[in-house]
Amino acid sequence: MGVVRWPFSMATADLLKREAPDSLMLTGFWYRAYPSEKVKHGKLQKAMLLEIPLGLGRDRNGRAFALRDACPHRGMPLSCGRFDGEQVECSYHGWKFDALSGQCRLVPSLTADQNIKVDRIYAGSFACYERDAFIWVFIPDPGPAGAGFTRREDPSAAAPPVPTFSEKFKTAYLSASLPCTVDHGIIGLMDPAHGPFVHQAWWWRSQHSIHEKKKDFEPIANGFRMSAHTPSSNSAPYKLLKLYADADAITTTIDFELPNLRMETIRAGKYWFSSLTTVTPITRDQCRIDVVACWNIFRFVPFGPSLLKFVFAKFVEQDRQTMELQSQGLTQNPHLMLIDDADRPAKWYFGLKAAHLEAKRTGSEMKHPMSGPVTLKWRS
Ligand code: FES
Ligand SMILES: [Fe+2]
Repeated sequence: MGVVRWPFSMATADLLKREAPDSLMLTGFWYRAYPSEKVKHGKLQKAMLLEIPLGLGRDRNGRAFALRDACPHRGMPLSCGRFDGEQVECSYHGWKFDALSGQCRLVPSLTADQNIKVDRIYAGSFACYERDAFIWVFIPDPGPAGAGFTRREDPSAAAPPVPTFSEKFKTAYLSASLPCTVDHGIIGLMDPAHGPFVHQAWWWRSQHSIHEKKKDFEPIANGFRMSAHTPSSNSAPYKLLKLYADADAITTTIDFELPNLRMETIRAGKYWFSSLTTVTPITRDQCRIDVVACWNIFRFVPFGPSLLKFVFAKFVEQDRQTMELQSQGLTQNPHLMLIDDADRPAKWYFGLKAAHLEAKRTGSEMKHPMSGPVTLKWRS
């Protein structure tokens, strides 16, 4: 049964068994919208999330906001308008909206006897959360028609943090846009078999170091975990780390959680390194990978952060280039396959996604595609 082919037609495949990129973008989650430092005071920054055009900005007090970049009157992008630090003025007919809530404050064309209730009108507005170098935006489930007169509802949970384990640490982020669907971006991220072919470098490892690996996985809420293990000893950075940290044991844990979160934690004695990588759907066939890393290793080495950023950038660039080439092969929607065990995480991802959608549709509890811990084997 190892080989799975796609695309499936929805009519023939049970939703829960679907293991195919469907380019469905999941709503009801927080997404990284834009790097914080690039959203300035006094003007709106255009951005796109799940095919929704956004105008991002900061009010006078620095609080981030996200408006749908289309005026509820006749659709002019609000990012083209004027912003005084409190209200956004549409450049077409001058309607004014409160930046944080989207509530309409003024319709200049109204005469004294025309009593439209201006404050019942809303520009589309999204909950925002600034965390770990990014402005996160909550994309709610599509609401009922009639937007334009609805105040937004805020999510109960906050955007997920990068895990940290000491008071002082360094942090850096990296972004790259990938010319593929969010599904290909995500399964590319969790795929262990491409390493020796895509991420070769003399200082990392060579193709000849390929060997059999065995890793334990366990289900977690909304995702799965590669259980704490000692990272493979065939890569120079880990050897270096072991030396530097003067620790007997280095352990790595990698979690994947819907919709798009990959959390990696490396701990060696009192030293740690963690990252939260997200693959965010921009449009149906374009996504962006954002890596935010925090660490207290090399904190006192002057070239530490730039070296780490360099290594990271190299990796992400190798992935980006690979996916750019892959997208050429994917243009005609060819039949593809997922094989055991190396592609099992990808299958879990599709299983999780389908189970999540099914639970939402039926209002029942999500049925996790994994029934318990599993050990996977592959060569890489
Ligand atoms: S389109 Fe914005 S005010 Fe008319
Ligand atoms: Fe990679």
